[in-house]
Amino acid sequence: MVASPRDVASIAPSSRVLLRRLSSLACVRSAKFIVELGPGTGGTTRALLNQMQPSARLLGVEIMEAFVKQLHQISDRRLDVVHGSAVDVLTHAACLGGTAPDVIISGIPFSTMSWNDGRSLVSAIHDSLAPGGTFIAYQLRNRVHGLAGDLFGKPQTSFVFWNLPPLWIYQWNKPLIERRTEAIEGPHASGHGRARGRKSHPAASAQQ
Ligand SMILES: C[S@@+](CC[C@H](N)C(=O)[O-])C[C@H]1O[C@@H](n2cnc3c(N)ncnc32)[C@H](O)[C@@H]1O
Repeated sequence: MVASPRDVASIAPSSRVLLRRLSSLACVRSAKFIVELGPGTGGTTRALLNQMQPSARLLGVEIMEAFVKQLHQISDRRLDVVHGSAVDVLTHAACLGGTAPDVIISGIPFSTMSWNDGRSLVSAIHDSLAPGGTFIAYQLRNRVHGLAGDLFGKPQTSFVFWNLPPLWIYQWNKPLIERRTEAIEGPHASGHGRARGRKSHPAASAQQ
């Protein structure tokens, strides 16, 4: 596992406004199991813990060992932290046992990854999420929009001005029931190779 300053992509800790906006989302407050990708030094982690249900669980997946050590200082029985890559989120979440996460929240900078790495990560997030679950990404740039549109469709977006630098929150809901192309187009449909017959969202090709 390697990590560089490009992977961190933040010049200042997340602002209180950003932390409040993320942690007060209804899906966070009602979730049973949240996975946080790239928790860093734990600002967002603490904010999520403050708003989560007493019986909910939070798994942090962080690639930088020094940050993992800091995260281990947070004393909350609802929190588990693993040193690893977000792309293995399915394995990390499964190791905790129980059900699939109903929320996956990511501060990992998609804009500094190669397109293929970004696609692999979004795909792993989609596979890991429970049906009806929510994927949240807070990002300086809109690359994640193009990467995720194909699998998740159109996001809800909101702008956070009071953060250094200002950024966007993207939020997607995974449908409760996946539409299957075989069922829609019949057994001889070409399908263009998307695994599990997922239907592409028309907005996907319009993104960067
Ligand atoms: C913008 S920082 C997040 C800051 C933190 N959530 C906060 O606001 O307090 C991005 C984090 O993602 C981590 N990261 C980058 N790539 C990663 C990967 N592939 N897997 C896990 N963590 C990763 C970085 O080490 C860094 O801690």
